Amino acid sequence: MPSLNDIRSTFLSYFQANDHLVIPSAPLVPQNDPTLLFVNAGMVPFKNYFTGAETPPTLRAASSQKSVRAGGKHNDLDNVGYTARHHTFFEMLGNFSFGDYFKEGAIELAWGLLTRNFGIPAEKLCVTVYHTDDEAADLWKRIAGLPDHRIIRIATSDNFWSMGDTGPCGPCSEIFYDHGEHIPGGPPGSPDEDGDRFVEIWNLVFMQFEQFADGTRKPLPKPQIDTGMGLERITAVLQGVHDNYDTDLFRTLIAASQGFVGADGEPASHRVIADHLRSSSFLIADGVSPSNEGRGYVLRRIMRRAMRHAHLLGAQEPLMHRLAPTLISEMGEAYPELRRAQPMIVETLRQEEERFRRTLGRGMALLEEATTGLGEGDRLPGEVAFRLYDTYGFPLDLTQDALRARGVAVDLDGFQDAMRRQREMAREAWTGSGQAAAAAEWFAIRERLGATEFLGYDRTEAEGELVSLVRGGDETPSAGAGETVFAVFDCTPFYAEGGGQAGDVGVATWPGGRGRVLDTQKQAGDLFVHEIEILEGELQVGHRIRLAVDADLRRTTKANHSAAHLLHAALRHVLGPHVAQKGQMVDGERVRFDFSHGGPVTLAEIEAIEAEVNAVIRQNRSALTEEMAPEAAIAAGAVALFGEKYGESVRVLT
Ligand code: ALA
Repeated sequence: MPSLNDIRSTFLSYFQANDHLVIPSAPLVPQNDPTLLFVNAGMVPFKNYFTGAETPPTLRAASSQKSVRAGGKHNDLDNVGYTARHHTFFEMLGNFSFGDYFKEGAIELAWGLLTRNFGIPAEKLCVTVYHTDDEAADLWKRIAGLPDHRIIRIATSDNFWSMGDTGPCGPCSEIFYDHGEHIPGGPPGSPDEDGDRFVEIWNLVFMQFEQFADGTRKPLPKPQIDTGMGLERITAVLQGVHDNYDTDLFRTLIAASQGFVGADGEPASHRVIADHLRSSSFLIADGVSPSNEGRGYVLRRIMRRAMRHAHLLGAQEPLMHRLAPTLISEMGEAYPELRRAQPMIVETLRQEEERFRRTLGRGMALLEEATTGLGEGDRLPGEVAFRLYDTYGFPLDLTQDALRARGVAVDLDGFQDAMRRQREMAREAWTGSGQAAAAAEWFAIRERLGATEFLGYDRTEAEGELVSLVRGGDETPSAGAGETVFAVFDCTPFYAEGGGQAGDVGVATWPGGRGRVLDTQKQAGDLFVHEIEILEGELQVGHRIRLAVDADLRRTTKANHSAAHLLHAALRHVLGPHVAQKGQMVDGERVRFDFSHGGPVTLAEIEAIEAEVNAVIRQNRSALTEEMAPEAAIAAGAVALFGEKYGESVRVLT
């Protein structure tokens, strides 16, 4: 019987043999996409290829993409543990065509893999198409030989896929597996389609449009293919079980939790723990830490939900961190970031569970007391749910989950009111990054001009041609004294903010004019954008400009950057290898270094850290720079930043 790991490999090799480039999974935290909380489908890292904002490196690609659906448009959190096939974390297998093959190629490839390579009998499969898509229906008939009654037309959004409220979208065709008459449920589109008998295993999306925030939809430059097959579901099919939690990986994870707390407890609790262990560990490996807002709060909710189930199963001590090694030994080969992050995953799980256990018992007691006498159809007052949230650290969905078995709901309006009152008191104002709109413009400029050549590793002065000038959000051919503009040159010695180092400042001069470079930022990946205040003369696109970095400031910035690395190393020596860098900002005057650690750092530890850093500085050693592949760098001992996406080669400083 093929294991989950075998099935992933078969999928990727099949598409590789069919001229697809296999692309490693992107981190779960979307890069360059402020519209999404987490990567929730295989196509997300390729969004800009679909919309035409960036040129793809290949016309055909395949991947197994880590995905989390626990918040936002695609949210499966509430179903996990109670159904045969919902997960907060899953792997999406996908093949992609960026303007190469379309419906026919996608259907041929999918049908070939399922029936030939995976050996699924054709009579176990049926498909859906969007109700107006005659072309897809005809192709299924011709290529797969399916009879009309097994090509089901669906008019709802189930057969029109979109990534989120904005982004690429299009009609889709889903392939279903029939688990057989012994399982209750009907075919797609029938009244009992929600049963477990017919399970969607693969979604082929015929990407044709881009959806915008104002509700309009524009055709994409070229029709494209995006497909998604949940690895956990296809594994269930190929292992002859109808429940994802009965597949090899999940049986191993569940056996591990049963090993610690016994096998008697509620099966749903073991399933929730196994699922949430995966999402939590992968999110931590990609740089998310539990916190009270944004992504960190989604992670905390997932972790605490699992921890309540561990408590229900009678766990006397924190459980989750003891399960992490089993997960990592099962999945660490396919996802080496899990191995690299193991100490951090274990520590983060342990600390969060220790912290939550301090209030969990009392919160559960309060919940018991507040719900005595409540039954099916009753509601818990919102005030109580809010107190549980605010004082006992119970996320709302945890309270809902706890009441689910008794059919008691939470008064959500009351909860929101209590929350609002508290917010008003705290006068908490949060504003988004506002970068979403401008990002599209920069991508367009980047597409037209290509990347900026960076000359600044060995010089601080150079001449560059001004290739784009942006004023007030629009490109302009020229700008005059007194204006502040954003300028892109074909090459530049100015370092753009990145890797936790501030962008360079300096001066720009040209015949008859000069300006002050106030900051340098990177846009669209590798476009260096200089913010320039024009002091004299006119700045014109096409002219050559002399660019000079403030070299003194660059020198002290570099020294501070080295100091940040020394500090990182010393923190790991003194506090332990679980210490992870969470952020950094160095400029010419200071170093700020954010890191995760379970408690306060003692005075003695601070002294030891300072002594180590100062001792290395006093040695006054020289720095060595080398270019190498990311894998080679990691093998040589470089500490990769979890969740960062690295290019083909990295610059390693020793
Ligand atoms: N992007 C499509 C999905 O997630 C394939 O179902």
